[in-house]
Amino acid sequence: MRTPHRTSSPEQVADDARRAVEDAVWAPSVHNTQPWRFGVRGTRISLRADADRRLDVADPDGREMLLSCGAALYNLRLGLRALGHEPEVTLLPDPDRPHLLAEVEIGAGEPADEHARRLHAQVRRRRSHRGGFRPDPVPASVLTAIRHEAEREGGRLIQAVDAHVKGALAALTGAAEHIQRRTPAYATEIARWAPSPGTRRRDGVQHGSYPQHASCTQPHFPPRDFARGQGWGVKPPQDTDGSGGDEVSLTGVVVLLVTTGDAPADWLRAGQALQAVLLRAAEQGFSVAYHTQALQVPELRAFIRTHFCGDAHPQLLLRLGVPDSQELTSVRRPLQDVLVEEA
Ligand SMILES: Cc1cc2nc3c(=O)[nH]c(=O)nc-3n(C[C@H](O)[C@H](O)[C@H](O)COP(=O)(O)O)c2cc1C
Repeated sequence: MRTPHRTSSPEQVADDARRAVEDAVWAPSVHNTQPWRFGVRGTRISLRADADRRLDVADPDGREMLLSCGAALYNLRLGLRALGHEPEVTLLPDPDRPHLLAEVEIGAGEPADEHARRLHAQVRRRRSHRGGFRPDPVPASVLTAIRHEAEREGGRLIQAVDAHVKGALAALTGAAEHIQRRTPAYATEIARWAPSPGTRRRDGVQHGSYPQHASCTQPHFPPRDFARGQGWGVKPPQDTDGSGGDEVSLTGVVVLLVTTGDAPADWLRAGQALQAVLLRAAEQGFSVAYHTQALQVPELRAFIRTHFCGDAHPQLLLRLGVPDSQELTSVRRPLQDVLVEEA
């Protein structure tokens, strides 16, 4: 256990804790559910899962909820380090309280190193991509750096290099998307988390967060049906006739983020690995698209594990590259909705 913070005043520590939580909420979360709550008490920050925001149909075990919270935990740690604190994290500290995901002690630390500062600079700039990629290659050195980020956090990236594997993963994504669109319970759940334009909500995947027409990639990884046939979504700037154009974009680098185990602690580690990967990619000028449809269908997740992951457990399916379209927007709930300053 590191020594608690002694050099800053209690007011300063409270202010820094608050700023770190402000960073944490900019993590990605499944359907932008933001399924987290934070508590600050002295030099300790707690992270809890907000189970009311779990996707009961697509994510009954809360795996993606914990991936999302793990990503927030990574941002929290990085935010503290950027402020010169050393976070000491205990994952799942109380077996009787499974929603208490982590306790973070704000320890005394050194000023953040250059690496942490550069990643931290991406926390609020990073956006999920939902489209194709330009032909610019992702250099091997960047892929290696991203791979190391994942490994440092307890995850591993498996790249789908073989065209047949890429094609199979795209086809499985298509099958899952088809199943989900035709299953009323899934479709209703998506509708709950994809509000109509003009909403005042500060969560969910909103009209400004996805393109009106998904670019056609080869192989094609279908996007989620957030617009549900309503014509919502961002139009491409040159799209005067509303056709969306018919340029072919590239699929990009396809990777599976995997873990050795498949328990809540592994999901939290995978979430932290995800966020490390996303920030490192963003820092190098690359964006990431997600396709988790097939991993939400148990039979397809098992199939992907058996055939493409060795013995590891697939947690996320990602594509990476230089985006072919303009940056999209996203929203977050205000801090007072997720942060409790405990006496
Ligand atoms: C576990 C997890 C699964 C996700 N799955 C998908 C997905 O299948 N399709 C998609 O378009 N975005 C997916 N996302 C991205 C979220 O929709 C996105 O993070 C959220 O809308 C907030 O937007 P932002 O990342 O741009 O801040 C996923 C994110 C997480 C953390």
